[in-house]
Amino acid sequence: MNPASTRRLSAAFAFLYLVGMLSLLVQHVVAADAPGDVERGRQFFQRNCTACHSADLDANFHGPALGGAYGRTAGRAPGYRYSAAMRAYGRRWTPATLDAFLADSARAVPGTFMAVRIAAPQDRADLIAFLRQEVGRRNWEARRRAGAR
Ligand code: HEC
Repeated sequence: MNPASTRRLSAAFAFLYLVGMLSLLVQHVVAADAPGDVERGRQFFQRNCTACHSADLDANFHGPALGGAYGRTAGRAPGYRYSAAMRAYGRRWTPATLDAFLADSARAVPGTFMAVRIAAPQDRADLIAFLRQEVGRRNWEARRRAGAR
């Protein structure tokens, strides 16, 4: 190989290396994005969600009980009458789907009965941590004690 094409080749490798490092960096930033604080999430939930929701497994109020919601397909709380939009939504509640729904519920699930927009990413992350780590774990343990799984 002549020196010119060697230079071109190493420039190409340097470019690929840079692209690789950049995408690693982006993944890292996304993964590190706003880790949630369970305690702050609990307080936020009590102030902003309990007018319509319980964190129990089966107490439906104006909104469905949220105890079993994390990790479950949307629109499946037993005994609750959801909007057609929520029944048709069909996705599971994960950090990503919850984040989009809580940021702008009408945009994430057009036609939903719930109208909530939480602007601050940190508030949403705290809420999601609460729903996942606290509510989800507590109810999972209750179900297990009851012999359901
Ligand atoms: C004014 C009443 C109201 C408030 C306040 C409210 N919600 Fe809701 N929420 C609803 C209703 C009604 C539904 C059912 C929506 C549908 O059927 O389209 C719902 C549905 C949900 C669902 C989907 C549940 C499932 O079983 O699929 C989640 C998650 C949720 N709400 C979270 C929250 C959180 C977190 C808050 C607090 C920031 C909150 N909501 C505040 C009324 C409310």
